[in-house]
Amino acid sequence: MKLPDLKTARVRNQQIVKYYEADILRNENLFKGKKYFLKTYGCQMNVHDSELIKNLVEGLGFIEVDKMEGSDLVILNTCAIRENAHDKVFGFLGRCKHEKEINKNMIVCLCGCMAQEPSVCEEILSKHKYIDLVFGTHNIHELPNMLLNKMSKTDIEVESKEGDVIEGLSYTRDSKIEAWVNIMYGCDKFCTYCIVPYTRGKQRSRKSSYILDEVLKLKNDGYKEVTLLGQNVNAYGKDIEDELSFSELLRKVSQTGIERIRFVTSHPWDFEDSLIEVIAECDNIMPYIHLPLQSGSSRILKLMGRRYTKEEYIALFNKIKSRIPSASLTTDIIVGFPGETEEDFLETLEVVNACKYDSAFTFIFSPRVGTPAEKLPDDVPLKVKEERLHRLNEVINKYSLEANERYIGKTVKVLINGISEKGNNKVCGYTETMKLVNVEGSKDLIGQIVDVEITEAKSFSLNGVAK
Ligand code: SAH
Ligand code: SF4
Ligand code: F3S
Repeated sequence: MKLPDLKTARVRNQQIVKYYEADILRNENLFKGKKYFLKTYGCQMNVHDSELIKNLVEGLGFIEVDKMEGSDLVILNTCAIRENAHDKVFGFLGRCKHEKEINKNMIVCLCGCMAQEPSVCEEILSKHKYIDLVFGTHNIHELPNMLLNKMSKTDIEVESKEGDVIEGLSYTRDSKIEAWVNIMYGCDKFCTYCIVPYTRGKQRSRKSSYILDEVLKLKNDGYKEVTLLGQNVNAYGKDIEDELSFSELLRKVSQTGIERIRFVTSHPWDFEDSLIEVIAECDNIMPYIHLPLQSGSSRILKLMGRRYTKEEYIALFNKIKSRIPSASLTTDIIVGFPGETEEDFLETLEVVNACKYDSAFTFIFSPRVGTPAEKLPDDVPLKVKEERLHRLNEVINKYSLEANERYIGKTVKVLINGISEKGNNKVCGYTETMKLVNVEGSKDLIGQIVDVEITEAKSFSLNGVAK
């Protein structure tokens, strides 16, 4: 049993290792017919990791079920970004503990970003002994072996080092229409509030040849859309000698001819002019850019280690909008960073009023163990933080609705990806600008890019009719 030690980050080598063990185990079918329940928290990175986990456990013979109760294997793929993410996981673990009292052979696994936190592992070892297996974000591919070697007591296998980029893994993808493609792992930015560089390790880009092969294969398999994934996609390639830049990679991905290309997330600091050009020039690169602001106060941005000022951010925003007028831009904002004054917050509102985002994710600052911001003196009462979040959301929602209302009467292209939650004879999908549209039309449209006339706008979605 090993306890993780996050302080021993080693100098990485970019060696590619092939992984075979799952294939060997697959032939043995050791867990044939056993039931597994997988719950995923957090960002797209985790959603995509879960597609890998599915492939591995299904390869062993497990069958997915939609209820934890009564299953043989429970896997929680966790997120550590804010305190409430932790709380949700421990809440669910309480249910697992209860179930295990009845269903004694059930295997409970915790993985994902929380597993990379030493304090969480210590807590599990001391207080949550019903958890059988803990594995980190760098050793998912070892899951089949870990399940086979599972000991009767809690087994913690968390790689403290980020390891190599592993190629040749297979995914059981949730969709047959839209696919995630990792282009890099980890993050080197170390924003002072953020835990991701600790849970995901240093930035490791995948070699472009592997990425392009994967996109081509997806296209040949009938996929209509790929989303290139990374914490910092526009820093792609900067960690490998002689690799393409992100804009060069995007151009090559565009040349594969896949119908739609998206990417998340880009950091304002690495947003070069060549990237704006390639998005403007290539029709299959979608005009949708998520450009996290975090704060509108240059003073707070400096404390956050974001490497741009309010003025630089607004200038970049305007440059993108003037070159790609159709683009929709969204953002992330944190309120209540330690020491944030009312003046700082008003500057955030000022930037929101200048940029009029299509939508935004907003958060109250949550101190994360081991990050520099955790140690900053914080004199802003929670009540004030909550009130700022409320004021911010009101402004954001107003602009979201206004942005959506501009679509009324227009005909837009929607990639239909499923049945609408709005029920009766409705399907749904996304516009090029990433607006969710509920469409009156038959389910035969699923998988097609359809012209849809927009008839109604809400804050978070549009309604329309297929033409
Ligand atoms: N790599 C991406 C975002 C990763 S996390 C980027 O840099 O944009 C997603 C969002 O969670 C961040 O953009 C930030 O707004 C928010 N976030 C991260 N750490 C946080 C913390 N400690 N407290 C509150 N929000 C946080
Ligand atoms: Fe976190 Fe900053 Fe990296 Fe985004 S860029 S993952 S916010 S450290
Ligand atoms: Fe959460 Fe890890 Fe993503 S902390 S936001 S799941 S990278």
